[in-house]
Amino acid sequence: MRNFICSWLLICLTLAAAFPQTPGRKTRAVTVAQETERRVDELLARMTLEEKFGQMNQRFSPRNKDEENNLKSQAEMRQLIKSGRIGSLISVTGAPECNELQRIAVEESRLKIPLLFAYDVIHGYRTTFPVPLAMAASWDAETIRRASSVAATEASADGLHWTFAPMLDIGRDGRWGRIVEGFGEDPYLTSVLGAAAVRGFQKDDLSDSTALIACPKHFAGYGAAEGGRDYNSTEISEHTLRNVYLPPFRAAAGAGAGTVMTAFNDLNGTPATANNFLFRQILKSEWAFDGFVVSDANAIAELINHGYSADSAEAAQVSLLAGVDMDMQSSVYLNQLGRAVREKRVSERVIDDAVRRVLRLKFRKGLFERPYADEKLVARVMLSPENLETAREAARKSLVLLKNENSLLPLKKDMARLAVVGPYADSRELHGSWRAKGDPQNVVTVLSGIKSKISNRTELKTGVNIAESVAAAKDSDAVIIVIGEDARDTGEGGSLSTIELQRKQGIDQEELVRAVQAIGKPTVVVLVSGRPLAIPWIAQNIPAILLGWHSGLQGGNAIADALFGDYNPGGKLPVTFPRSTGQIPIYYNHKNTGRPPKEDKRNTSKYLDIPATPLFPFGYGLSYTRFAYDNLRLGAARIELGGSLKVSLQVKNIGERAGDEVVQLYIRDVAASVTRPVKELKGFSRVRLSPGEKKTVEFTLTPELLGFYNREMRFAVELGKFKVWVGTDSAGGLEGEFEVVAAPARNALRKR
Ligand code: NOJ
Repeated sequence: MRNFICSWLLICLTLAAAFPQTPGRKTRAVTVAQETERRVDELLARMTLEEKFGQMNQRFSPRNKDEENNLKSQAEMRQLIKSGRIGSLISVTGAPECNELQRIAVEESRLKIPLLFAYDVIHGYRTTFPVPLAMAASWDAETIRRASSVAATEASADGLHWTFAPMLDIGRDGRWGRIVEGFGEDPYLTSVLGAAAVRGFQKDDLSDSTALIACPKHFAGYGAAEGGRDYNSTEISEHTLRNVYLPPFRAAAGAGAGTVMTAFNDLNGTPATANNFLFRQILKSEWAFDGFVVSDANAIAELINHGYSADSAEAAQVSLLAGVDMDMQSSVYLNQLGRAVREKRVSERVIDDAVRRVLRLKFRKGLFERPYADEKLVARVMLSPENLETAREAARKSLVLLKNENSLLPLKKDMARLAVVGPYADSRELHGSWRAKGDPQNVVTVLSGIKSKISNRTELKTGVNIAESVAAAKDSDAVIIVIGEDARDTGEGGSLSTIELQRKQGIDQEELVRAVQAIGKPTVVVLVSGRPLAIPWIAQNIPAILLGWHSGLQGGNAIADALFGDYNPGGKLPVTFPRSTGQIPIYYNHKNTGRPPKEDKRNTSKYLDIPATPLFPFGYGLSYTRFAYDNLRLGAARIELGGSLKVSLQVKNIGERAGDEVVQLYIRDVAASVTRPVKELKGFSRVRLSPGEKKTVEFTLTPELLGFYNREMRFAVELGKFKVWVGTDSAGGLEGEFEVVAAPARNALRKR
């Protein structure tokens, strides 16, 4: 009886949000779309089957060493372009080089169809930003939009059209190296930030020459790899898939993402790259996605390893039929689809649909009108002072203050003697994984950031190993220890069996911290990482901890800004920090179980040897000032099904410094046809407050936020009680309650 469906309402809301244009613009958009389809039709009608397979074929540049066996030489590649056998290239960069290859496509090939140049522009291009997980800690969609827009401007000046980003895989396991590439563990946060990234890359209009086509990835479930081991298989129920893993992709599609990439993983027995349910049913049918789907690298050929396809002929057939339009790297489409059509295993209609989607994007990108990159742009746009400032601001916004006992931070710039020690103090690993064309030489390390911050009277002492660090600390008034992990400990293939601190450069990092702490000087730890780390001893014993992440070129400056009070950190964790690896998976939006954990009760859902709570919860982060929450107001105690509820509160800066607070709204659907998480984020707002300043923050809980895929696998709001929390993190907050009740029947209303 709770199952009152309001999906019709959601469809209306979604459509209204997706097409906010005035009627004039709308008509123009329709005309442009019709004209594009006409041009696609015309071109399709002139294409041979081989030319069609060419548009479905993406190759790495042969200078990529992995590809040497597949594509022997530049000459061979040029010949393939000339004969229309390549539709897109990956890893060719530089306007002159892209233009040279583009010239072959548009001047020497029969149909003159331009190439799409693709690259992994993950967190910046030449100006690198914090890694995506760090950017998510900003809880600021505008910061992410702006960073993506800068990345697009720089990458497009280098001849690129298409980025394989944003990665929207939900990451609940810190062992998984690729957790660094996503926006953390929460579907709502990832949806909001993912849509912002798409808008940033694609600008307002894909045909803008400074825009990149976005490619949300990996569809779907890649983040649920068993044991956090990269490429591993996943078992995800349809409820969890639809309620947790898919919403960010839906949001990105709604924001206009042009393409989507498949995932490497096996999903419930069908590899994602051959998954009809994911691509034909959900993406292309339910969501009416009209862009194209690219496989992940070599993933079509790997269907054989999965044990899903007997040979490459079958691999080509199943992935095409599943809705994968372009083959990245494996050449299986190019080599196998001809036979598949001749043997009537796939129809030409399916091929045409795939090619239509690729051509549509090429038209939308404006490539037929402007195939070439402007070679003069590079000098002007790369690493411009404005881009570097945007990167520094993004890095500042990503910082999370994990602990600050007795307001040890910020430090004074003019202290007499300061020690900066540890294996990451002067390390360029701060750059992070997937650095695109970022030059490590341009990375501002923590040490160099600090050097340019402190007074010239301050004596700076440094050390890397334990002996040096202890000596430096003894001789100083305060110590900053910089510890963490390498960029290569994260990213693709960067999974770890433990998230405790690793030995680095022969140094046991925790031992180093213990030895320095034993000296008894005021001690600060700066963490440089791309994943949550388990640091229970440090969290317990070190008075001040700043999470600096892998924060790109300007990371060292941003960290120094915060350490010395030129910036007040206000970021929040986008992912739970466990107490130990054994606590994984631990995430805030879990189910309650029949026996929720009680520390003093044995037969409850917990471990005996560790508290049930995380080290730091999702949404957590401190500031140099303090905030007080007050006056939680719910617009009504009851709302009718299909209605919305306003939630407001006051937040006040009760400390002495200006600072940012991320106000977070959580709900719980108390009883439902499918059990719901104990808490779910449904709104957030990063607000800046001067000392003593008070702001009212308002949220609206719409049916879209209250609903979920229910027992019938329909998106619905169900009747009954909801709890609401508004606060500073996922662990607490002001609490309220409301109820969703049935709307009175129409004739009942009339009678009254
Ligand atoms: C494999 C990765 O999984 C994917 O994310 C990336 O975009 C491609 N390689 C291309 O580099």
